[in-house]
Amino acid sequence: MYGGGYIFDEPNKRPMQDTIDDPVKLAEFEQRIADGHKIEPGDWMPNDYRKQLIRMIEQHAHSEIIGALPEGTWITRAPGFKRKLALIAKVQDEIGHGQLLYNAAQTLGKSREAMINDLLSGKSKYSNVFNYPAETWADVTVIGFLIDAAAIVNQVANAKGSYGPYCRALERICYEESFHLKQGHDAFIELATGTPMQRQMVQDALNRWWQPIMHFFGPPDKTSVHSEKLMKWKVKMASNDDMRNQFLDAYVPKIWELGLTLPDENLKKDEATGKWLFSDPDWDLFMKVINGGGPCNAERLQVRKWAEESGRWIRKALMNPNAARSFPVA
Ligand code: COA
Repeated sequence: MYGGGYIFDEPNKRPMQDTIDDPVKLAEFEQRIADGHKIEPGDWMPNDYRKQLIRMIEQHAHSEIIGALPEGTWITRAPGFKRKLALIAKVQDEIGHGQLLYNAAQTLGKSREAMINDLLSGKSKYSNVFNYPAETWADVTVIGFLIDAAAIVNQVANAKGSYGPYCRALERICYEESFHLKQGHDAFIELATGTPMQRQMVQDALNRWWQPIMHFFGPPDKTSVHSEKLMKWKVKMASNDDMRNQFLDAYVPKIWELGLTLPDENLKKDEATGKWLFSDPDWDLFMKVINGGGPCNAERLQVRKWAEESGRWIRKALMNPNAARSFPVA
């Protein structure tokens, strides 16, 4: 039995039964959050707070390990030794972020095994952006610069949230992401200030990635399902639209100052309100991609299934060193 009244089905630790939240405890909990206290794993928490955190942290963890795949395929093809080394380090960091986030989600009572099963069966979501191919090296620079920047906007805000283990994981992740952003920006500038062919490559990649990046922050606030509750409980520290606006504010000028364009003729800042105006991204496409129908969803899950199956013997060996003697040496 955990603090919020969940009863778990061991060993899967799946909630079997919800109990009604005690209104007095709920009021105390909400006051603690309003006063800026962190909630820790052993503390009482409402059922829905736990469920929402599991959903969000789990999706975030999946995004890290799936997110390593498009860039991972470029390690051997990155231009030059320095870029290869930087990309190896970055991909390794992303997998480490997955590890930190799975650990944080586990403190809420869902086992790692159950989370991975839900990813592989397609039950759990992960970020839309990782369902697109990295066609050229320029795509990798756009991912390293703009997708890492978008992730930082989200994570810096949410690191100040209410759930201790998630916030501490995000703080560490943000340090590493800021190096990723630097290497992505450097590689992006190298192409943007390079030969006409390199500039064209980076322009084409920007055109391909712009819409997925606009989708990255989630649906508009008026249709976001979870924002209201998550913001009340300080799990999300800014709304989807506010984060998108912060990102546009910081990064559109950096793209334009390099003489590159973005594929949206309505994109401009309304100086009176401080808000960016833009064409509505295709939200039907977004729904299709996050529900398994994007260009690379099937391939991404297939690779993760292969990794899961190929690594089973070593996980078994690590859990039980005596049994390792009977495993083949690779
Ligand atoms: N990719 C995939 N799914 C997304 C998404 C995205 N970029 N943005 C929103 N969604 C999904 C949500 O998960 C939710 O689906 P669900 O109810 O089946 O779980 C649905 O779209 C409705 O969106 P919303 O109500 O706005 O969800 P939210 O309040 O959880 O906000 C995020 C979405 C991504 C902003 C939020 O979950 C978040 O900050 N997550 C942590 C950071 C993260 O995962 N980053 C990605 C990798 S770096």
